[in-house]
Amino acid sequence: MSEREQAGRLNRTIPSPWVAWRAYLRAMAVAKRHWLRMVLAFAGMLIDSVTILVVPLLLRWAIDILTHPDAAGGAAVSLGVGGWRLSPASWQLARIALFSLGLALVRAAGIYLEIFMQESVGNWIARDLRSLLFQKMLRLPFAFFDRRQTGDIMSRLTKDVSAVQDGTGFVVLITIVNIFQVAGAVAAMLLMDPTLTLVVLLIAPPVALITLAYTKAVSPLYREVEARSGTLHTVAQENISGIRVVKAFTRAPEEIEKFEKENEALFTANLRIARLSSLVGPALDLMSVLLSLVILGYGGYRAATGTLELGTLMAFSSYAAFLYWPLRQTGWLADLISKALAGAVRIFDLLDEQEQPLGGPVAPVNEVRGQLEFRNVSFAYKDADFSGVSAAAVGGAEGTSAWQRRNGDDDGYALRGFNLIIRPGERVAIIGGTGSGKTTVANLIARFYDPTAGQVLLDGRDLREWPLEQLRRAVGFVFQDNFLFSLSVRDNICLGLPGADPAKVQEAAEAAQIAATIERLPHGYDTVVGERGIGLSGGERQRIALARALLVNPPILVLDDSTASLDAHTENAVQAALDRRAAGRTVVIIAQRVATAMRADRIVVMDKGVIVQEGTHAELVAQEGIYRQLYREQMALRASRPVGLDSDVDGNLAGDVDAVQAAEAGC
Ligand SMILES: Nc1ncnc2c1ncn2[C@@H]1O[C@H](COP(=O)(O)OP(=O)(O)O)[C@@H](O)[C@H]1O
Ligand SMILES: [Mg+2]
Repeated sequence: MSEREQAGRLNRTIPSPWVAWRAYLRAMAVAKRHWLRMVLAFAGMLIDSVTILVVPLLLRWAIDILTHPDAAGGAAVSLGVGGWRLSPASWQLARIALFSLGLALVRAAGIYLEIFMQESVGNWIARDLRSLLFQKMLRLPFAFFDRRQTGDIMSRLTKDVSAVQDGTGFVVLITIVNIFQVAGAVAAMLLMDPTLTLVVLLIAPPVALITLAYTKAVSPLYREVEARSGTLHTVAQENISGIRVVKAFTRAPEEIEKFEKENEALFTANLRIARLSSLVGPALDLMSVLLSLVILGYGGYRAATGTLELGTLMAFSSYAAFLYWPLRQTGWLADLISKALAGAVRIFDLLDEQEQPLGGPVAPVNEVRGQLEFRNVSFAYKDADFSGVSAAAVGGAEGTSAWQRRNGDDDGYALRGFNLIIRPGERVAIIGGTGSGKTTVANLIARFYDPTAGQVLLDGRDLREWPLEQLRRAVGFVFQDNFLFSLSVRDNICLGLPGADPAKVQEAAEAAQIAATIERLPHGYDTVVGERGIGLSGGERQRIALARALLVNPPILVLDDSTASLDAHTENAVQAALDRRAAGRTVVIIAQRVATAMRADRIVVMDKGVIVQEGTHAELVAQEGIYRQLYREQMALRASRPVGLDSDVDGNLAGDVDAVQAAEAGC
């Protein structure tokens, strides 16, 4: 079994019936504000059931009149036209016909109410669940998305909601109607002729057995179909997203094979279901024929010997049909309901996920000064959640011991006892190798995660005490990989400030050195970009993201390696623009390149989740350590490259060669 299959299986552990039914009822309760429509649907159902149960009685009455016309009492009725007269029997028949017509009309109205209202209840449940799920998703912490697959979340929003819709609305109705009809029919039959009723009911056990056996055989197959199509979905989705990798590494044959294997298994399971369901239909039909034979045989014998009226026999046949259909539908209904149960469990599993707390009460502080402090912060992604971590419970000392308990590099900690104070208006660069924990520091500043131990403070106040929204507005972010929505360039830039002044948008774009590129696009700022739009290079995306952050102009700006894919010249221009625009703001620049970091007020060097060096560029270059090593390596790289191809390292470095040499001489 592949890892993916295993993951698929694990996601599909069968919940206890109690959990499942609770989730099912909660899904139904979502529509409780539409209670009036449910009552109407119920009324419609009642009308439907009662009227249909009366029909065989009318039939019996009519046949009794036809077989014993003399028994009809009363005088002949004059119609008043052309001297036409109706015999008493005909008059009674005419009244039965009129009554039947009236009944049919009432029944039609009842069925309309029942079906329309029940269909809408299903649709309401589906609509409300979709909204709840989507809104919930946006309130969930990053840690949730680290653990879950996109396909899995998507299938809850689509497939599971459909399953609940299909297994709640009309299914509940049909189930109630069926129970009602079976009970009504059996009662009517018992009243008419108990012996014949018992004979008819003999047929019920085999029908129930066949249905039960079918349901038992088919439900694991349905579960398999669900699991297989989930995996198929994931394989397809991964291949669409990763099409470049698939093609570049000529993975196509293997991926096709993987897909074919799943596709084949899905096909086989579906075929097995088809075989079973094509068997069960005829088997049940056979039972219904048997039932008719029993009624006709025994009932006919009784009618012939004069112990049963013909009308009663006919009424019996009709009532027997009321038994047959509900029994036949049981398997199908049970199937729909069990799918809805599974769907409801998965939906409420997501809806019950721990949300990120919204932080403290809205602060009276209107102005964020922008002082950041990391106090003894340790953080492990695997421990990341937001369950019950209160600001008060996390002390500095406790934080230290928490990470000290786990030694060694492979303890999963991305930050260990991290301490850093960034003053308002200061520009700090964080530099370090891949995986040293730089992005983690950025994540904690915006409270994408909460520290496992220790505290992060903004203006002396724990981040967990800040209202989340106020905090996120105070921190502008440019990520390592930036996402553009399928919107116009303008809307992408205005993401944090919808409807911003076009002049301001242009100003931000100019500062981010992207204005000229945007103007060259087919529709300028109105060109649609993103997944389905025009493709932009990594550097262009990064600069649009930068413009996005600059437009909001927040008190704190965090740039996570956001000039990494720019050439030296553009980077210089971006940095200069930043000097102008971000003056007085707290800026955290995360970099892997010395060239990016060197202009900062202070440089912090990270390694394996701790700060190993701190100081200005000049100070750090003068010290033995990682920074000087990085600096030398990057210069050597530059020196080894032919002029003109160098786009990685900034020209400023050249001037510092002397400084390094001088420092080395001094050591
Ligand atoms: N979402 C995540 N889930 C689990 N581990 C992560 C996640 N993001 C980063 N890590 C791990 O945390 C450590 C620090 O990563 P990161 O802060 O991204 O480093 P950097 O930005 O310096 O390259 C690495 O060991 C990395 O594998
Ligand atoms: Mg990073």
